[in-house]
Amino acid sequence: MNKIRKAVFPIAGLGTRFLPVTKASAKEMLPIVDKPLIQYAVEEAYAAGIRHMIFVTGRTKRSVEDHFDTAYELENELELAGKTALLATARSIAPEDMVCTYVRQPRALGLGHAVLCAQELVGNEPFAVLLADDLMIGSPPVMRQMVEQFSEWRASILAVQDVPREDTKRYGIVSAESVNQDLVNVIEIVEKPTPEAAPSTLAVAGRYILTPGIFKELENLPRGVGGEIQLTDGIANLLRREKVFAYRYKGARYDCGSKLGFLQATVDLGVLHDEVGSEFSAWLERRHPN
Ligand code: UTP
Repeated sequence: MNKIRKAVFPIAGLGTRFLPVTKASAKEMLPIVDKPLIQYAVEEAYAAGIRHMIFVTGRTKRSVEDHFDTAYELENELELAGKTALLATARSIAPEDMVCTYVRQPRALGLGHAVLCAQELVGNEPFAVLLADDLMIGSPPVMRQMVEQFSEWRASILAVQDVPREDTKRYGIVSAESVNQDLVNVIEIVEKPTPEAAPSTLAVAGRYILTPGIFKELENLPRGVGGEIQLTDGIANLLRREKVFAYRYKGARYDCGSKLGFLQATVDLGVLHDEVGSEFSAWLERRHPN
C-alpha cells in the first residue's frame, strides 16, 4: 500500500469561533470569493491524485453533501440558457472519477475522534487528512508535496511551519531532529503547549498523511486538552511504534477557522481572482493609497 488513495475531511466541528453564522450553517461552506473552503481542500486532494473523499460530518453539514452531488435542476437550467461556462463550473465540482462518502460523527468529541469515525471507510491503508478551515495555497498544492514525500519515506507525515513562540498554544507542536532541509524526524508532539512549555516553535498545520496504525491509538485514547479526543495525542502514541516525519510545506496558509485569517484569505485571493481581481485591487488601492 504505497499510494495515498483516500482523504478524510473532518468537518463535524461546531465552529464556535464563527458564530453566529455557524449556528445553522457549515463553516466549511463559507466562501473565499466564490468557492467554499471545503472545495479548495477537495481540489487540493484531487490534485494529489486522491479520488476517494471521505467526509466526517455532523449536524448543519448537509449542504456539503449537496455541494458535491449532481444538481440536475441547476444544470438543466444553465444548459437551456446556453450558459456553458457556468455549466462547466457546476459540473467541475465533482469530476466523474471522484467518489464521495459520508460518515457522521454523532457528537463533536474532538478531531481524533472524528478521524476514528472514518476507520471503516479508510480500512487498512495509509490516508490523508485535510482540515478545510486551514486553506493552503501552494504550487504544487501542499497535499501533492506531502504525497511525494510519502512515496519516498512510507511513513506518517505531518505538515509543519514555524510560528511565533507566543502562538504555540494554538497548535500541536513537535520537537524533532533534522533529516534534510524540508523534513524532520518527530521525537515528541504536544497539543497547544504554553510558550514556556513548548518544545519548539514547529507547529502542525491542517494536513496529515497517516498510516492506519493511528486508528488503534485513537481507539484507546482518553480525552485530552479541552476534554476532546485529540489527534495529536494519537500521533504521540503512534510515535512509540512507528516513525513519524514532519514536512516543512511550501506555500501560504490561512486559518479560515478564525475571522482574521478568513478576511486575509478573502483579500489575498480576491485580488488574484480572474473575474474581479483587478477591479478589487484598484478599489483597495483607492481606499488605502500609498
Ligand atoms: P477546530 O479546532 O477548528 O474546531 O477543529 P471547530 O469546532 O471546527 O471550531 P471552533 O474552534 O469551535 O471555532 C479543527 C477541525 O476538526 C474538525 C473541525 O470541523 C475542523 O475541520 N472537528 C473538530 C471535527 O470534525 N470534529 C470534532 O469533534 C472537532
